[in-house]
Amino acid sequence: MTDHLADYNRKDAKERFVFLRNSLLNADFNFQPSGWRYAGDVQDLKRGPVRTQICNEEIVLFKTATGDIVATQGRCPHMNAPLWQGKVVENSIQCPMHGRRFNGRNGACQSHGSDNVRCFPTRVLGTHIFIAADANSAPVFPYFDEAPHTAFAYGRAIYDVVNVPWYLVLANGFDVSHFPYIHGREVLGDSGPLFKGHNRIDIQYALRNTSQLVTDRLLRRLAGDKVQLNYRVFNGNTVLPMTIVKDKASYIWIDVQPVDQRRTRVTMIPVMRVDRQPMWHRYLNGVSLALRSVFIKHFFTAELPYIENIELRPTMLSHNDLPMMEFLHWLKQQNPAVVEAKGNTKLIPLQAEMAQ
Ligand code: FES
Ligand SMILES: [Fe+2]
Repeated sequence: MTDHLADYNRKDAKERFVFLRNSLLNADFNFQPSGWRYAGDVQDLKRGPVRTQICNEEIVLFKTATGDIVATQGRCPHMNAPLWQGKVVENSIQCPMHGRRFNGRNGACQSHGSDNVRCFPTRVLGTHIFIAADANSAPVFPYFDEAPHTAFAYGRAIYDVVNVPWYLVLANGFDVSHFPYIHGREVLGDSGPLFKGHNRIDIQYALRNTSQLVTDRLLRRLAGDKVQLNYRVFNGNTVLPMTIVKDKASYIWIDVQPVDQRRTRVTMIPVMRVDRQPMWHRYLNGVSLALRSVFIKHFFTAELPYIENIELRPTMLSHNDLPMMEFLHWLKQQNPAVVEAKGNTKLIPLQAEMAQ
């Protein structure tokens, strides 16, 4: 289904608004979205297994003798010992406590006739490791439309834990009316379309850079004031924004992981296309990606003071909020409990909020 923002000026927009507001009145975002979660860097596995955490669950990550990157449940089924303190033996992880060995390919226990461990599907992008949030199913791996994953280079990951509910971090890109105030970007009339698919939702904006920030003024002088922003959310946890200024595209991979109902871990990876560049340019890619990291960090950190502890208040929403409401309605349907009814497995819910 595709809508243009301009469509919201039609008469039936009022009906849509009432429908979405009612949908959000009883929305429950207290769940772990499915999707591919950022889990760490391949370099970190050089010295042996490491601990990571996905959806409040401890996971052990390791590299097998044949070079596969494996993620299994982090605790041994025998007596709950931490497997990340164990060692890799060929293609298995050996528990540090009584030596049970678990095969990295299928989690099978190869000794003592113990229970197996659960394995999570993994993917590697550059040196970044991603784990499917659900051990039993691997959702579509997020992608930019422009080219395959191998056509891009990926910079260092930067992350932060922010005091914003995870679904509102994702919704930020659909919150049209904050662009002029926070980002100095006027939204032009021909913005849209809004595309809603099963695994992803996209919105495209035509923007005018009106910001007084030094970097934005410089950008305006060099490349004009028109900015195209294509904002995409995959599987309820990955954001892939693409910005085009004067035919030059820049990309970011953003991983959003709920910590609890109010806090969110946001990991950002700068991405650049490298498949069509001249050979000599490759020497500059490291510098270019590092500069992008600085810019991205600056851009997102600047917004944080203004969005801390924001809340979704369905009864307070207005017509301007329609794209964001469309997004949240779509996200609500990504709730694994709902998906389960269609035949998939269920993820564990979000941890109850910690005592204050
Ligand atoms: S706790 Fe792992 S083998 Fe006993
Ligand atoms: Fe924003």
